[in-house]
Amino acid sequence: MIQIAIDGPAGAGKSTAAKELARRLHINYMDTGAMYRAMAYALMQRGIDIADHAAVEKELGSIDIAVQYGEQGQRVLANGTDVTDFIRTPEVSKGASDVAVIPAVRLKLVKTQQETAEKYDIVMDGRDIGTYVLPDAKVKFFITASSAERAKRRYLEWKAAGIQKDIRELEQEIISRDKTDSEREFAPLRQAEDAILLDTTDMGIEDVLQAVIRRVREVYGDV
Ligand code: DC
Repeated sequence: MIQIAIDGPAGAGKSTAAKELARRLHINYMDTGAMYRAMAYALMQRGIDIADHAAVEKELGSIDIAVQYGEQGQRVLANGTDVTDFIRTPEVSKGASDVAVIPAVRLKLVKTQQETAEKYDIVMDGRDIGTYVLPDAKVKFFITASSAERAKRRYLEWKAAGIQKDIRELEQEIISRDKTDSEREFAPLRQAEDAILLDTTDMGIEDVLQAVIRRVREVYGDV
């Protein structure tokens, strides 16, 4: 099975690269961040305070997060309802980072992620893919960029969607999320020892893709 792990901090361009890579290689793509986002969204819809870990754990048995693939790419479902269009707000971003600290949440979502990687060739992006979810993946990348550059990319994405954001606020959000993600105890954001580091501050998406594809071909030949 092909397993490609792409990790890195918020807004580094992992998803864009991973999605396009999967398209070019004709294999599946799994955006694991969307699963943490869907979990946070479902909890928030129920009025659960994510800081109350006991309350979150009590709900876990009755929240099922699943991913599906169709014409519009990956869709994420919470108890059968497609929530993909509601999980990109700043509130859900923060909620996802906060809920991802809770080991029981991670274990539940990681199980789905590992089961999917057993069935399909896959490119998976997240924070702990190379270190925890798929430690045996033969291709691992850690994609990063300066926080100013990441904020700028997010700013342009929102602008393209017709939404004006304060770039300094976006940078603060990113820095604060990086801190929560890398300082948590269980499966934090960390570069795996065997991952290749790509600082994309001065790289375009095509350069990133070429670097990853070169490595994929070294390992798996012509896929
Ligand atoms: O990649 P993203 O920004 O959509 O992820 C949202 C949050 O989910 C991120 O701040 C931390 C959490 N996350 C995680 O802990 N582990 C992953 N594999 C993916 C995301």
